Amino acid sequence: MNNIIEVRNSLEAKSLKVCVVGIGRIGLPTALSFAKSGLHTIGVDINENLVSTINSGVFPLKDEPGYEEIFNDVIKNKMFSATTKIEDAVPNSNLILLSLPTPMDENNIPDYSALRNAASRLSESLTSNSLVIVESTVEPGFIEDEMVSIISKSGRLKIEENFFIGVCPENANPGEILHDFTNLPRLIAGINNDVTKIIKIIYNFVFPVEIVEMPNCKTANAVKLTTNVFRDVNIAFVSELSLMFEKLGIDTMKVLEAAKKKYNFQIHYPGAGVGGPCLPINSYQLLNSAKRAGVKLSMIESGRKINEKMPDHVVKLTSDAFKESNKSLQNSDILILGVSYKPNVKDIQLSPAEKIIKKLQNLGTNVYVYDPYFPSENVFGIKVEDNLDDILPKMDAAIIVTDHDDFKNIKISSFTKMKNPILIDTRGIIDPSSAKLEKVIFRGLGRGNS
Ligand SMILES: NC(=O)c1ccc[n+]([C@@H]2O[C@H](COP(=O)([O-])OP(=O)(O)OC[C@H]3O[C@@H](n4cnc5c(N)ncnc54)[C@H](O)[C@@H]3O)[C@@H](O)[C@H]2O)c1
Repeated sequence: MNNIIEVRNSLEAKSLKVCVVGIGRIGLPTALSFAKSGLHTIGVDINENLVSTINSGVFPLKDEPGYEEIFNDVIKNKMFSATTKIEDAVPNSNLILLSLPTPMDENNIPDYSALRNAASRLSESLTSNSLVIVESTVEPGFIEDEMVSIISKSGRLKIEENFFIGVCPENANPGEILHDFTNLPRLIAGINNDVTKIIKIIYNFVFPVEIVEMPNCKTANAVKLTTNVFRDVNIAFVSELSLMFEKLGIDTMKVLEAAKKKYNFQIHYPGAGVGGPCLPINSYQLLNSAKRAGVKLSMIESGRKINEKMPDHVVKLTSDAFKESNKSLQNSDILILGVSYKPNVKDIQLSPAEKIIKKLQNLGTNVYVYDPYFPSENVFGIKVEDNLDDILPKMDAAIIVTDHDDFKNIKISSFTKMKNPILIDTRGIIDPSSAKLEKVIFRGLGRGNS
């Protein structure tokens, strides 16, 4: 895999064998894209249920539009299958993509154990001249400083001699991965310029998008973190502003909609907090890099603090609304609308809903959940309701935590059926004046009356 002509030929002959380690939210669509391009692809995952679901022909990512059809085709044509055995898959592949999770621990320290583990396994099983591409989000320098030395440790493999490494930090958005894989430019970098060129040829073969060559792996990883942390910090900025606008009687949504008319304003929205597998972790990854570099990144630090405090504000808005209606929170029935960390996906990783639920329970309330992505499932210890119309009349209050499209279509009059109509909107999807018209006791995060 160090010869451009050979790689081109193996792509044309479709003889390049691909292995994707970690076939979750990002890895599965990636593996399916490679298989769809005509390259035999095997997916490796430690999750036995996931592997057997895939091998029995059932597509597991139902909230990822467009991929089910591709999945059915490549399974039928035997271009893709899954296994739990990395030791079987890797020796039969020349291109190994790592799409493993990079979460953080309870102290917000990035956890690269899945990548380190996989690198150790590669050290034993990688065949000579293979190329490893890390798609997981890692800190700048992790590839050069850690991955290379772990893979080399068995002594069989020497970087730039008989194994090669590079990165393509994944940028896709859950719920719209097919759109992003066919539209968003992808950043790539190799351990040297020749490897970068080879990765470019491979990704050009699979993805119909601009492939952007970066000077080295650490710069590519720095770009990935910069784009996401930009969002985390900007959400903190508007969330903090929204707290003040609430007090000043200014509607933050009106401010933002008007501000975005200016060509160089990039809109971000305040909310109940920032969750998911990317933004909060990516901020802590950069903070970890800063610590190692002996640098302080105070803006990112403050941004994190603000975003992590937003669930407290949601509880405060709720308690204010209860005071206005002369009702005690104790023993009240409150419905959380949406537990996903973002709209229109089935994903609760680091969702602010969890903190809001725990805080409300600690105040003695009975918390119920409705989320169309989790009907009848158990989420955060609560069985999710499967019918909104049935549960609303039993509630004292409802809190919109996630702005799923389904919630945008709920008529405001539906909330008047609650025992004690209190509505808290943390995502700016309810028009405060229509809530007032319907005599719902309303609190909108950041929505001062203007
Ligand atoms: N989900 C996103 O929005 C998103 C977007 C861009 C980038 N990323 C990055 O992509 C990477 C993967 O994220 P994801 O969201 O796909 O994670 P995920 O949790 O959905 O999938 C990871 C998969 O890896 C498997 N796994 C864990 N340890 C393993 C091991 N040792 N060997 C084999 N399989 C193992 C898990 O069972 C899981 O199926 C992360 O670095 C993440 O930051 C995620």
